[in-house]
This record gives sequence, C-alpha cells and structure tokens, in this order.
Amino acid sequence: MYIQTHIHALWAKTRNNKAIYGFFFSIFYIYMSYLIRNLLQTDYSPELFELLAQLTDCPPISKEEYEQFIDLLGTQHQVVCMVTEKNQIVAIGTIIIESKLIHGLGKVAHIEDIVTDSKFRSQGLGAQLINYLVGKAREAGCYKVILDCSEHNIGFYSKCGFEKKGVQMAQYFL
Ligand SMILES: CC(C)(COP(=O)(O)OP(=O)(O)OC[C@H]1O[C@@H](n2cnc3c(N)ncnc32)[C@H](O)[C@@H]1OP(=O)(O)O)[C@@H](O)C(=O)NCCC(=O)NCCS
Repeated sequence: MYIQTHIHALWAKTRNNKAIYGFFFSIFYIYMSYLIRNLLQTDYSPELFELLAQLTDCPPISKEEYEQFIDLLGTQHQVVCMVTEKNQIVAIGTIIIESKLIHGLGKVAHIEDIVTDSKFRSQGLGAQLINYLVGKAREAGCYKVILDCSEHNIGFYSKCGFEKKGVQMAQYFL
C-alpha cells in the first residue's frame, strides 16, 4: 500500500514530464531481470511455438522431433533465448557459424530467426539479444556477421550496428 501510494504520487507529478516519465519506466524495467541462455530440451512447450509463430509459419512439432533438433545444436549452430525469472521465453534468436575456405579459413556468422514476444517489445530486449549474438560471433573469431531482414526492420538492425550491404536473392522450393 505504501509503495502503491508513492507510485501514484510520483505518477501524478511526472505524467506531464517526458524525461522523468522515461526515467520512471527505466527504473521499472531494470527491476525486471532477464537471462540469456541456450535453448534446452526442457523448453518444449506450446508457448515456444506461439512465440516463433510471431515471426513466421511455425506449426508445432512432436517432443521427439524437438529433442532431435536440440541434439544437433552445438557451437556452430546455437539457438539462444531470453527468459524471465519465471523461465518464460520472451525473445529468441539463432546464430550459425560458417567455416570457409576463403579468407584463410575465415568464419562468417549468420544471425537468423530473431523474435521478441509482442508483449515484451520496445524494452530493448531484441537489441540485447542481437548484442549477445554479435558477441558470440566475435568470440568465435568471425570476420563478419550478416543477416537478412525485411524493409521495416532495417531501423531496428541499424540501431544494433548493422548496415545495408549487397542484395539478398533466393529460390524457394516450398
Ligand atoms: C524486430 C523485433 C525483434 C524488435 O524487438 P524489440 O525487442 O521490440 O526491439 P528493441 O526494443 O530492442 O529495439 C531496439 C531499438 O530499435 C528500435 N526498433 C525496434 N523495432 C524497430 C523497427 N521495426 N524499425 C525501426 N526501429 C525499431 C526501437 O525503437 C529501439 O530504439 P531505441 O534504442 O532508440 O529505443 C520485434 O519487433 C519482433 O520480434 N518483430 C517480429 C518478428 C521480426 O520481424 N523479427 C525480425 C526478423 S528479421
């Protein structure tokens, strides 16, 4: 009750002041802590597929198929997620490290399938996840990290330090 009263008093004082209002919400988000970790066998749940379906077509697969997929992951192919203290996955992304014959056996990192749950967007989580994956690319000794995105996400990736380069081409079989 004490805290609630003070929050209401602070809200009344700050609602007409954008800077203080932003500060107030920053403090709130600092108290919400998230962990970034690799996706695990135990993460199989309808919510995981609902999150991925916010990115693209993602019908559920069986638990067995999911476990086989997780078994294939390793240092060259990682699926990383951001979870709340209650272990709810709120953002997810993939990194694939490609070893090349060119550039003296150089390595290139590919970032794929980034999505933040719609209820958790605009809190900086997507940027934190990208930052983490870019760090993994650096640690692996990659000479560059690349990704494809739609026009409307260019602003997001620009804020994460990416720049437009080349042209994407594709052949779809399905
Ligand atoms: C794109 C997406 C991952 C961004 O996640 P998010 O957690 O909301 O992003 P963040 O809060 O970390 O945003 C970081 C910055 O980018 C900006 N931003 C986010 N999405 C943006 C967009 N589409 N265009 C321009 N800027 C954007 C934010 O305003 C923020 O700016 P700030 O630092 O000045 O405040 C999220 O909108 C999403 O999951 N979209 C649906 C799936 C998708 O399109 N994934 C990308 C596949 S390539």
